[in-house]
Amino acid sequence: MADRYLHFTGTPPGRFLTRRLGLPRPAPLRRFGPAATDLGGPVILRTAGRSALDGPLPLDEPLTPDGTAGTAGTQAEAPRPAAVVLDATGVAGVADLAGVHSALHPLMRSLAPGGRIVVVGARPSADDHHQAAAQQALEGFTRSLAKETGGGRTANLVRLTSPDPAAAASTLRFLLSPKSAYVSGQVLELTGTAPAAAADPARPLAGRTALVTGAARGIGAAVAEVLARDGARVICLDVPGAGADLERTADALDGTALPLDITTGDAADRIVAALPGGELDILVHNAGITRDRRLANMSADRWSQVLDVNLAAVLDTTDALLKRGAVRRGGSVVATASIAGIAGNTGQTNYAASKAGVIGLVRSLAPRAAAAHGVTVNAVAPGFIETRMTAAVPLFIREAGRRMNSLAQGGLPVDVAEATAYLADPASGAVNGQVLRVCGQSLLGA
Ligand SMILES: NC(=O)c1ccc[n+]([C@@H]2O[C@H](COP(=O)([O-])OP(=O)(O)OC[C@H]3O[C@@H](n4cnc5c(N)ncnc54)[C@H](O)[C@@H]3O)[C@@H](O)[C@H]2O)c1
Repeated sequence: MADRYLHFTGTPPGRFLTRRLGLPRPAPLRRFGPAATDLGGPVILRTAGRSALDGPLPLDEPLTPDGTAGTAGTQAEAPRPAAVVLDATGVAGVADLAGVHSALHPLMRSLAPGGRIVVVGARPSADDHHQAAAQQALEGFTRSLAKETGGGRTANLVRLTSPDPAAAASTLRFLLSPKSAYVSGQVLELTGTAPAAAADPARPLAGRTALVTGAARGIGAAVAEVLARDGARVICLDVPGAGADLERTADALDGTALPLDITTGDAADRIVAALPGGELDILVHNAGITRDRRLANMSADRWSQVLDVNLAAVLDTTDALLKRGAVRRGGSVVATASIAGIAGNTGQTNYAASKAGVIGLVRSLAPRAAAAHGVTVNAVAPGFIETRMTAAVPLFIREAGRRMNSLAQGGLPVDVAEATAYLADPASGAVNGQVLRVCGQSLLGA
């Protein structure tokens, strides 16, 4: 379903009217593609106070001594910065927060439309409440900046739990690229270390095998496409009834179609039988359904259908595949939650319970899966994404869903797919147990 309002606001009368009436003004987002492989401008690095890191933050762009990447021209000729990264890891007390203001305040008017602000902080300390206060302050700061910056710009906070800056490499690469266009106002906490990036940055998943459930259409089809673009061999699973759609998706990316209802008792066996060598590297639980009713009107059937597909099958297949050692070391599990699982939603007690359950699963399993299997477990939590699922939402609620976020528009399936590919990248080994919202900083559960 096309977002006609977004199109209208890009026309001269649309611009005039929305400004006059104070209506939301969504900026068209620049997403990754052949014509947009990077942000298209310099990245500026600033530090608030003294960095607590062991070395410089890993940024792909070569930085000049003043922290400005890219161009060697004079200040007057320099293009507008496309991104600013603030190293605030050393912020340890309220006085240090002045350094956050002085580092970013002068740049805010010049940051290009569609630009990125990434604040890199440290984990709030359990032993030092001054440091904890100052580091927690960065969260309120970043989330507010994400709300006010406008023009398709985003702001996110990355917390490092160790002084090793290399842990941030893949996350900075993602946040400082057009792949993160619909990720804003988020906090990602990185633990442990990260393996080096793949030899070919254009195909970080080369040689890897991925299984994507619910891949016939919508977000799942986009995930399968993006993983294949990044080099993975993809097995596309969907219900047998998805038939031609599933074949089409799998054929288009030279993948394999696996018609299977994920809730059937022997699903894990049949998945393993379909995997080359009986193993995979990337397991994406995307299949999901809604059966909305207020609890007063909800049958036990509607309740259990949703819990069975969205949560029980995710738990069961994850357990079965990990137990058999079918997920190779360095692999990843990415489950699909939802902002409904964070904020709750009228008529969705079953759905929100299932998606909150996915978050519980991820947070609990992640450290144990890393220790026992060398596998990361994370979730994406989409907000309002333009798919058949949301096209079925009544018009007024659909319009509200689209506008009630800092980017004032719905996301596209590819936005969730890019976030999934980032979490599935072996170079993202330091990202574990995280719930990454892909929601344009939705006001729901904000
Ligand atoms: N679209 C959104 O705005 C949104 C927001 C938050 C979360 N999500 C979640 O993202 C995921 C994908 O959503 P979508 O909008 O692309 O939905 P969709 O309905 O377009 O696609 C879901 C796919 O899952 C498949 N599926 C359902 N039950 C299955 C089963 N038992 N076994 C195998 N496959 C099954 C369906 O056949 C379908 O192809 C879901 O988990 C959904 O809950 C979507």
